[in-house]
Formats: sequence, structure tokens, C-alpha cells
Amino acid sequence: MPENKIIVLDFGGQYAHLIARRVRQLGVYSEIALPDARSEKIRSARGIILSGSPHSITDKNLKFNPEIFKLGIPVLGICYGHQLMAKELGGKIGRSGTREFGKTDLKVERDEGILLGTPEKQVVWMSHYDQVMEMPPGFELLATTKKCRIAAMGDHRKKYYGVQFHPEVAHTEFGMEMIANFVFDACKCKKNWSMQNYLDRAIEKTRKKVGERKVLLLASGGVDSTVTLAILSKALSKEQVFALHVDTGLMRKNETAIIKNALSKLGLVELKVIDASKEFLSALKGITEPEKKRKIIGRLFVNISEREIKNARLEENQWMLAQGTIYPDTIETARTKHSNKIKTHHNRVEQIVKMIELGNVIEPLEQLYKDEVRELGKKLGLPDELVWRHPFPGPGLAIRVLCSDGRKEKSKALAEIEEKASLKAKEFGFSLRVLPVKSVGVQADLRTYAHPALIEGKLDWEKLERASTAITNEFNEINRVVFAVKPRKISSVKLKKATLTGKRLNLLRETDAIAHDEIIKADLYRSIWQFPVVLLPLNVNGKGEAVVLRPIESREAMTAEFFKLEEKVLNRIAERILKLNGIGAVFFDVTNKPPATIEWE
Ligand code: XMP
Repeated sequence: MPENKIIVLDFGGQYAHLIARRVRQLGVYSEIALPDARSEKIRSARGIILSGSPHSITDKNLKFNPEIFKLGIPVLGICYGHQLMAKELGGKIGRSGTREFGKTDLKVERDEGILLGTPEKQVVWMSHYDQVMEMPPGFELLATTKKCRIAAMGDHRKKYYGVQFHPEVAHTEFGMEMIANFVFDACKCKKNWSMQNYLDRAIEKTRKKVGERKVLLLASGGVDSTVTLAILSKALSKEQVFALHVDTGLMRKNETAIIKNALSKLGLVELKVIDASKEFLSALKGITEPEKKRKIIGRLFVNISEREIKNARLEENQWMLAQGTIYPDTIETARTKHSNKIKTHHNRVEQIVKMIELGNVIEPLEQLYKDEVRELGKKLGLPDELVWRHPFPGPGLAIRVLCSDGRKEKSKALAEIEEKASLKAKEFGFSLRVLPVKSVGVQADLRTYAHPALIEGKLDWEKLERASTAITNEFNEINRVVFAVKPRKISSVKLKKATLTGKRLNLLRETDAIAHDEIIKADLYRSIWQFPVVLLPLNVNGKGEAVVLRPIESREAMTAEFFKLEEKVLNRIAERILKLNGIGAVFFDVTNKPPATIEWE
């Protein structure tokens, strides 16, 4: 008997997660899987949705399990998925010669199947080059647009539907109705996905898995670990839950005190605070490589947990580790399959992976997206200040303080690239220089570690976005673009030797506090999803170090857009930061994710 769920096969399209979230919003559980997932896994669902893809169906065949069309389960193909379905079942694919992008008028030929109950004329959102030229046998034409004859098709007998447009995107007027038709009429799913339901099951599962054991939770104060703590304390007795807050010395200004206060007000369990700042700082001394930093930090968290367990005189089989890991961090989609290579998350270091294999880790939020965690937090009665906190990474400010041994590696080849990239920037009215530091990015699902480019000119967000996209698309050696906010004119940029010191951390803490204070004052805290502030070991115009502001908009951090901050607010932040002793310049990161990641390391 299949479970009441929909599986979304992720062909790498940026909207795969959005599809799953839409299904969940309709009250049905949905999960993401790789296109070549085994038939047994797929058979456990009542329906399959094939996502879009950045690849063209005519030049690359992505690996997928062809059995999906033999399982007797309803299938909805979207964009690439629509074309794949046509191709696999005997239709024809081709290129119309023009790309269709954005809002398009759809004419419904038959309001049946997934189009049932939607009007004859409606707006849909398209983004494609290839299209279905001939339908496979058994399919009927359901809708068409001016440039795309087979915009929607269906085989009602098999409950196979294909749409060239994206019903999951808000610009498609009746997209939700279409997904609902598929989920409820074609797949016969029932509405049973709600946060109350999830909470009840999470409590039950936690009790079962933990048994008589004790549970240790590292409570960072972020929404994920706080909601985890609230679930644990509902499911288990007070004596079983052991909450530990580790002050790594890599926290933001006054953060530990704020968290301690907020969590103790909740009164869930007693919170123990450990000052491990010296330990972290000494382990990170002299380390400049981002992945090394991440691994050292992850390992230290485990060591400290183990030490506490020893202090509590518990044997190995008497305790478990709880973590606030959420869904996007656990799934094996095309993107996250590589994400270990992109960045080692602090709760997925080797030691923890081993503990997971032994069944000694509990992650009650592992099926949730961030906004669902927040909803659950509200349901559990957590205050807004905790529910709406911006995410803050486990490795903290360590991955926002860039370090350098001072050796400049501006090779001849890089100088040539700088020259070419400058010409590209000029097309948009900017001047450009490549910075002598590196940051992490993600391009075509793979980790990059390349240079940022600094551009100077007039602040025009739209132009900056286009320039940044053009530059990072054209030059592999550049994966990020930052804009010079203040000073506007840059005469020299020099790399300096700098390691992770208490002094630099303090400088970043002050900078970060200013940025956050100003966005709260401007009432922008909730509109901005996250606002990292990064310190670069660069001496600009002979002064101090440089700071990068990186506010972003995002849904679940898999993709992100830089936040186009009001110029007035930006200038206020920059002016205040420049008054700090040790800061010589303020830059603004104008790169989306991909090609850059949200954090720099
Ligand atoms: P990136 O930089 O990969 O970040 O675009 C995506 C989101 O993940 C957060 N992040 C982490 N969170 N442990 C965490 O708990 C980590 O090791 C870690 N690394 C990145 C980052 O802040 C962003 O929200």
C-alpha cells in the first residue's frame, strides 16, 4: 500500500523544492528524490512529479529510472519532466527556435485532468527552449500557447500529465489548482500533512527512539535547535534532556547572553553554558583553509559533547545526540549530493555520520523546511524573537573572517582575466579589479573556490545584478562580485597577512552589530532572510581591513538573491562601520546563489 505522499524527482531545476513545498502547502507530504531512485522507493508514493532541469533534453540525457512509467503510478511532468515523459513514451521533442520566458497566455482546449475547473484563458509562467512537438500515443492536447502548441497534455487513463509551464511558480495564476487536481484527483491523496500532525508523530517517534536513554542537545539559540529542544522536552522527562550551549567565541555580539536569557525564560529544561572560546581559538590558530576550519569546528563540538557525557558518567549506550538538522540538509538531491563537497556542515562531520549509522542521533526536524520549522515553533508557543531569528551557521564567525598567509597569487593568467573582465564590466559602466582572496561558490552543482571581483561605479542594483551575472558566467576564475560602497574610489587594494584572532573577531562582531541594528531600525529584519557580514584581510587605499555586507533573500537557502537594500539604509550602515578603528572599506556582495554561496567559506 503506497504511503500518502508525492515524490518529486529532482532533475536539477531550481524549483524542485518549490514543487515539494507547494504539495505540502496543500496538506500532503512530499519529498525529493534523485531521478534514478530505485523503483521500490518510488513505489511507496501515490504520485510522482518530474521537475524541470537546467539541461536541455536534446543534448544531454540525465540518468533516470525508466521504470517510473511502468509502476502504474500517476505522473506529472513539468517543463523538462513534460518533455522527458513525451520522449520516453513515444512522442517527439524539438526546438522551436525561440525561447519562451516569463508570463504567457495559455488557452485551455479541454478543462480536464489537471486543468479541471480552470478558465479557458489564463496566465502561466514559462522558461524553455525545447518543446514537445508530437504527443505520445494515448495523450490528448489540453492547452496551448502562441509559441508552444503542446503546452499541456494528458493521458487520463494512465493519469499521466505534462505541462511545459511551471505550475509551482506564483506567476502561474491557477498553478495551485493544477497541483491540487493532480495530488487529490489523480493520485487520490488525503490531506494529512499539518504541523500539529507532524508534532504528534515527532513526539511519538522521539519517545520510541530514545527509550530510557538521555539526550544531549547543543542549543545554539537558533530556531532549529530551539524547536528541537521544545519537542524533546514535550516528549521526554526533564531528567532525560540535557541542553548545552557552547560559547565558541565565534558568536555575534552578546549572543550567548541573549540566548541564555531567552532559553531560560522558556523554562523548558536547564541550560548549561560552557565557555569554550579559548579551545576553539587555539584549535583554529593559523588555519586559513575554509574546509579545514569547518572540520576542526565540527570535531570540537563532538569532543565537547563527549566530554560532557563523560562528566555526567554516562556509558555509550546510555545517551544519544539530538540535532536540529532540517530537510534541505538531509536529502540526496542532485544538488545536495554534492553539497558535502561544497561545504562540510558542522552537523555532518565524520564522527557524527558514524553516530548516525549506529542509530545514536535523533533529528526531529529532518523532514521540515525552514518555514515549517518556524510554523512549528509558533505552534509550540515559542516567542517571535526566537522563531524569527536569522539563521546563523554552526561554525559562526570563523567562516566570515577570511584569513591569509599574506602571499599574493595574482598570476599572469589572472591579470589577463582581470583585463578581459574589466572590459565586460565596462559594458555596464563599472570598473573592475580581481581581489587577491578566494571564496566558496557553487556552479553547475559543484564547489568552486575562486576570486571575487570588486566593481566600482554608480549604485544601480539592476545593473549590478546583470553585470555580476555576466561576469561570473563568462569567467570561471571569478565566482563572486562585490560593489564598492565606501570609499567609492579605490586606488589600492593590498592583501595582508591575517589569522583568526580575538581582535579580528571583535572587529567583525562590532561591524555585524551595526548592520543588524540598522536593519532592525529600518524595519527590514523579517524581509531579509539572512545578513552575513564578512571581514577580508585587505588593506584598501592604505587603510585597515575591508568588510563585505551580504544580505540575502531566500526560502530555504538552496538558492538565494542578494537583497537590494535601500541606498539610505546602506549608506547609514557604511558610515557607521567606517568609523570603527580598523575598517578601511565597505563592500556589498551583489552575487546570487548560484554562482556564489551565501557564506563566503
Ligand atoms: P551556503 O553558504 O552553503 O549556506 O550557501 C546555506 C545556509 O546554510 C548555513 N550554513 C550552515 N549552517 N552549519 C549550519 O548550521 C554549517 O556548517 C553551515 N554552513 C552554512 C548558511 O548560514 C546559510 O544559511
